[in-house]
Amino acid sequence: MSPRAADPFDPHAFRRTLGAFATGVAIVAAEAADGTPVGMTMSSFNSVSLDPPLVLFSVARSALSLPALKTARAFGISVLAQDQQELSNRFARAMGEKWTGVERLTGAHGAPLIAGAAAHLECVPHAIHDGGDHEIFIARVLAHRAEEGAHPLIFHAGRYRSLAAHAH
Ligand SMILES: Cc1cc2nc3c(=O)[nH]c(=O)nc-3n(C[C@H](O)[C@H](O)[C@H](O)COP(=O)(O)O)c2cc1C
Repeated sequence: MSPRAADPFDPHAFRRTLGAFATGVAIVAAEAADGTPVGMTMSSFNSVSLDPPLVLFSVARSALSLPALKTARAFGISVLAQDQQELSNRFARAMGEKWTGVERLTGAHGAPLIAGAAAHLECVPHAIHDGGDHEIFIARVLAHRAEEGAHPLIFHAGRYRSLAAHAH
C-alpha cells in the first residue's frame, strides 16, 4: 500500500480521508436529569458486541449534550431514514430548537426516540472511554427494532447520499 503522502495532522486532509468511509446517520438522545431531552446527530454509531449486545458512539468533548449524556440512565438511538435529512441537520446544530415539532416516541425504557426512523435502539450505559477530543460511549442494548424495507440516510465525503438499488 502506498498512501498518497498527506500530513496526518492536517485536519482538513484527515477529515477528507475519514469521509471516504460511508456511514449511516443516527440521532442519539437522552433525558437530562431535569427531564429535558437532549439529542445529537451521530455518524460514529457502530456495533461492538453481539453477546452481550453492545454498540458505541463517540461524542465531542465540546458537545453541549455531553454532560447530560454522561449522566443519562438510558439512550435512545434512532437510525435515520433517507427522508430525515432535515432532522439530521437540525440535531447537528448546537443550541438549536431541536425538539420543536419532532414526533417523539418514548421507548419502554424511557429513552427518547424519533418517529419514522429506519431503526430504533434503546440502550443503557456500559462504559465511557477516553477518545482524544471525543469520549467513546459503549452502551448495552435492551430493545431494538428495524423497520422492514426502510431506506437509510447515508453520509459520505461530507454529503448526504442514498443507496442505489443494484440489479443482480
Ligand atoms: C452527519 C453528521 C454526523 C455527526 N457525527 C457526530 C459524531 O459522531 N460525534 C459528535 O460528537 N458529533 C457529530 N456530529 C456533530 C454534532 O451532531 C453537532 O456538533 C451537534 O450540534 C452537537 O450537539 P450539541 O452541541 O447541541 O450537544 C455530526 C454531525 C453531522 C451532520
